[in-house]
Amino acid sequence: MTYFQIKELVPQNSEADLSNILPAFLSIWNHPENHKFLSYTLQPFQKEMAGSWFKNHLDMGVRYFVAVSDDGGEILGMSTIKKDFIEGFEIIGLGVRPKAKQKGIGSSLIAHAITLAGELGFKAVDSGLVADNFKMMRLLTQFEFMPVKINHNARADGVDLVYMRKYL
Ligand SMILES: CC(C)(COP(=O)(O)OP(=O)(O)OC[C@H]1O[C@@H](n2cnc3c(N)ncnc32)[C@H](O)[C@@H]1OP(=O)(O)O)[C@@H](O)C(=O)NCCC(=O)NCCS
Repeated sequence: MTYFQIKELVPQNSEADLSNILPAFLSIWNHPENHKFLSYTLQPFQKEMAGSWFKNHLDMGVRYFVAVSDDGGEILGMSTIKKDFIEGFEIIGLGVRPKAKQKGIGSSLIAHAITLAGELGFKAVDSGLVADNFKMMRLLTQFEFMPVKINHNARADGVDLVYMRKYL
């Protein structure tokens, strides 16, 4: 039984959405358990930098989806997708609060992105991940993503970045 709902936030157009998403993003993305899988420079995400992404995201083809708890409306997880009719459809960010992991939120956000890509007419979904992110690798493999490209030494400590693709 799910205890969360997935909804879209549009911080570029809504101050309420911005004040909801920004602290959740910083908390999830900078959590020590998550950070090395989300920051390729291994530097912390700064409020100013993230705030400016959220103010321009629609112009960049980026959309944000959050998994919100039924009980209290807390943001438990978040996905970021980028759609570009030349470059394709990519899941560019995915993170879940440590206390809410292993309850199906990550896979629901991936499934949601795949459905959206199909509805928008894309023929594939891309997702990049660092090569030591075994959990994400397992999830993507379960959704039949396959490796298509490697950027060697992409993370600051030398770990590679693996691009995975699911054909729709
Ligand atoms: C990767 C990540 C997004 C997965 O999120 P999640 O919400 O824990 O994912 P799920 O719950 O859907 O699946 C995780 C595991 O829980 C299991 N699971 C799912 N629902 C479950 C349930 N109700 N009860 C028990 N286990 C469950 C899944 O089978 C999966 O098992 P596995 O690790 O053996 O493959 C999360 O670990 C995370 O935020 N990691 C750090 C950031 C990151 O790596 N992001 C991806 C960057 S590309």
